[in-house]
Amino acid sequence: MAKQYGPSNIAVIGMEWGDEGKGKIIDFLAEKADVVARFNGGNNAGHTIEVGNSKIVVHLVPSSVMHKGKLGVIGNGLVVDPKVLLGEIKNLEKNRIKITPENLAVSENAHVILPHHIEEDKKAGGKIGTTARGIGPAYTDKAARIGLKIYEFVDDSLFRKRFGNEEFYQEYKEYADAIMPYVSDTATIMNGALSKNQRILFEGAQGTLLDLDFGTYPYVTSSTATAGGACTGLGIPPKKVQSVLGVCKAYKTRVGMGPFPTEITGNTAEKLQKVGKEFGATTGRQRRVGWFDTLIGRYAAMVNGADSIALTKLDVLTAVEKLRICVAYRYKGSIIKNFTTNMKILQNCQPVYEELDGWWDDITKIKSYEQLPNNAKKYLRRIEELLKVPISIISVGPKRDQTIVARQEFLF
Ligand code: GDP
Ligand code: IMO
Ligand code: MG
Repeated sequence: MAKQYGPSNIAVIGMEWGDEGKGKIIDFLAEKADVVARFNGGNNAGHTIEVGNSKIVVHLVPSSVMHKGKLGVIGNGLVVDPKVLLGEIKNLEKNRIKITPENLAVSENAHVILPHHIEEDKKAGGKIGTTARGIGPAYTDKAARIGLKIYEFVDDSLFRKRFGNEEFYQEYKEYADAIMPYVSDTATIMNGALSKNQRILFEGAQGTLLDLDFGTYPYVTSSTATAGGACTGLGIPPKKVQSVLGVCKAYKTRVGMGPFPTEITGNTAEKLQKVGKEFGATTGRQRRVGWFDTLIGRYAAMVNGADSIALTKLDVLTAVEKLRICVAYRYKGSIIKNFTTNMKILQNCQPVYEELDGWWDDITKIKSYEQLPNNAKKYLRRIEELLKVPISIISVGPKRDQTIVARQEFLF
């Protein structure tokens, strides 16, 4: 193996409300990885990968699928809809991507999403604008200790005993048989990879502000989307996580309901939505958009312990005359400098902005930091300064090769 200077494993997590471009960044880094392991969520996630003329969106399978010879892991921290997983595997096959038990391991301890979870989510999830994929109800059953684990699902004597009288039983039994070859003790696999010093990416879904504990509760998802989830969702010791890479959009977006202090509407918002193609990869809903928010960035860097940042979608800001960065909130006549998940406060905060000049040159083909327009560099430097975290990757387009490495020492 080549001499290694950087970390041998990296947790890749979203710093906002999801859709930061985690799929793209994972795909970019996966080239040099041995194992890519999802640790939370389910098919509420939609991770987009674009290489050349092909574009795929994965929901459960880790975002390393465009590379051959990588092991993908679906950890115990996930809730797995077996029908969706099998559909995804079939779909990938149509794109000539072969998923087999050799390159995908599904944790025997992950929980199963069943039809009644989806039904319940469709009825109750509207209040916070969930993806209606049954995520919340499946995690609710897990916490209530009445959930169905994958190992029970694929063992017919156990599955039948609990759900043999249900209408979905026959159909789901077939799914169970099809999934059985993938099922393993993934915590042992992960710790084996760690002890061999293999290169591992821990793939987060959603983002810090959708995290059950640290997000804008109750407008959150039901899992741990922050870096700690890599440990609990995969069975690896905290001390083994060597580096955390926060994926952060150059502006902010949010799908679904809940507070969003820097949200904007009008011409600039429409431009960002159009140029940034801000439509959800899972539900097709239009994403709300807003200016960069330093308070969110610092908060996410803090709770995740971000060593560096991958700043995505910088290209989308090209030709915006004046760029705004939120540096504080005004709340009832006082100034707040730290993000809060207290909804009573957050819902009544007004952003305080700093303004920077934009740039006009197309940056989508730029390959190095030095070549970026001066005002783009100023924008990046200001973000680094305010967040006190270095930017290691700058993404200037959806494709794998539209990626600038600014600081290699944080990466493989
Ligand atoms: P994820 O859930 O964090 O993996 O992000 P999504 O895939 O849901 O959403 C990100 C969207 O932005 C996808 O359509 C990506 O193809 C696209 N994208 C990622 N990085 C960039 C970038 O730097 N520039 C542009 N224009 N699009 C990007
Ligand atoms: P990725 O991994 C963006 C949002 C939903 C809703 C809330 C709760 O692609 O970044 P849920 O179905 O999880 O109970 O919905 O969370 N949400 C996401 N938003 N990206 C995601 O995942 C999301 N996963 C869930 O829109 O507001
Ligand atoms: Mg997404």
